Amino acid sequence: MRNNIVHIGAGELTYEIRAIVEIAETLGKLGIKTNMENIGDPIAKGEKIPKWMKQIVADLAMTDCSYGYCATKGILETRQFLADITNKRGKVQITAEDIIFFNGLGDAIQKVYGLLKREARVIGPSPTYSTHSSGEAAHAGQAPVSYRLDPDNNWYPDLDDLRLSIKYNPAISGLLIINPDNPTGAVYPERVLMEMITIAREYDLFIICDEIYHNIIYNGESTKPLSDLVGDVPTIAMKGISKEVPWPGSRCGWIEVYNRDKDPLFDRYIQSIIDSKMVEVCSTTLPQKAIPPILSHPKYPQYLKERTSRYEKFSNIAYDILKTVDGIKVNRTNGAFYMSIAFEPSALQAKQFLPIEIPQVKEMIEDLVAQPGTSHDKRFVYYLLASTGICVVPLTSFSTAEQGFRITLLERDEQEFTKIFEIIAASIKAYLNS
Ligand SMILES: Cc1ncc(COP(=O)(O)O)c(C=O)c1O
Repeated sequence: MRNNIVHIGAGELTYEIRAIVEIAETLGKLGIKTNMENIGDPIAKGEKIPKWMKQIVADLAMTDCSYGYCATKGILETRQFLADITNKRGKVQITAEDIIFFNGLGDAIQKVYGLLKREARVIGPSPTYSTHSSGEAAHAGQAPVSYRLDPDNNWYPDLDDLRLSIKYNPAISGLLIINPDNPTGAVYPERVLMEMITIAREYDLFIICDEIYHNIIYNGESTKPLSDLVGDVPTIAMKGISKEVPWPGSRCGWIEVYNRDKDPLFDRYIQSIIDSKMVEVCSTTLPQKAIPPILSHPKYPQYLKERTSRYEKFSNIAYDILKTVDGIKVNRTNGAFYMSIAFEPSALQAKQFLPIEIPQVKEMIEDLVAQPGTSHDKRFVYYLLASTGICVVPLTSFSTAEQGFRITLLERDEQEFTKIFEIIAASIKAYLNS
């Protein structure tokens, strides 16, 4: 190349959740039956979309206007419908103009970080949903800046670590909160959110709050959307239908902007996001049209309740099986549909293994784990996959030094789900004692 054409942040763009799938596919070809517990797609795990919902989409598919472009920020009626939901809570008040649709939250995340000034950093949780950390790090061309989520305290944010990290890094200009959280399944109580908002206010930061799982909360936990608590702090709330409806293939997520008028720099920044959207025409017309009739359908609340009740039941099955296993830290999942297991410090070593039956697979895994820089938890995950066919994701791929793994609660068959967690429990014991 005449010049170096590689972006400074190119090294930060990795997505282990997909990488592990390639290995699983190879194992599949070699005859290992795999259970993919690695990706947060309810549809891929057999979620059934109710008939009434499909009928709404089918009817829209029969109208010509569903096939056209729509306004840059998204369909006005849908944005008004969503603004009304937020406004009815009686705290922050917004208009349809404060809502901007994107091609899924993945697209929103890239744009929101990509349009920040290079030097301005957003501190995010660790572990974290890696699309956030890699998007932010790629924008800055540096490693992510993070605050610790504490596995010894329900995976709640370590607020001292957050405060000190912000205090001693003047480049930090924004604070990312994910609630309910991916990958930990934690749901933050109001008091934790209030403390985080207080810190943001004290250091004049804006907040990004990813609330894509906001209506998937159970085990008697409660939390609040940031719109209820944020007062006058400039905030971007991120929402979407990928997980809740669930319709991840719709590529339909949106941001709600609170307190745009409270700070001229925040206002200018939001305008730059809108201007960058102007150069592409909004594309997700049909799913946007489907949002009001689906979310306001009389059967929607019951449908959501049935799903969250299943996650609640399964989160307790998983917790009860794993909590008795030595060498790991187990927190019950209370929201979203992920569980993060952390190994106790020094529980993992480079010599541990699980038996692998097929010699070709054994050779492949031994080659993989021998690669320099393979973390201890990745080694465990590879052995688990090759030995049992269960595919989970190493925790270190969620931008954390904490060793462990993330698994989903999406398997719908209770017997199969229980079996998977029993196998994992037995495998952890065997691995740690090997
Ligand atoms: C916290 C969080 N935000 C955003 C997304 C991406 O959502 P979308 O399908 O709208 O791109 C995910 C997907 O797993 C997620 O876990």
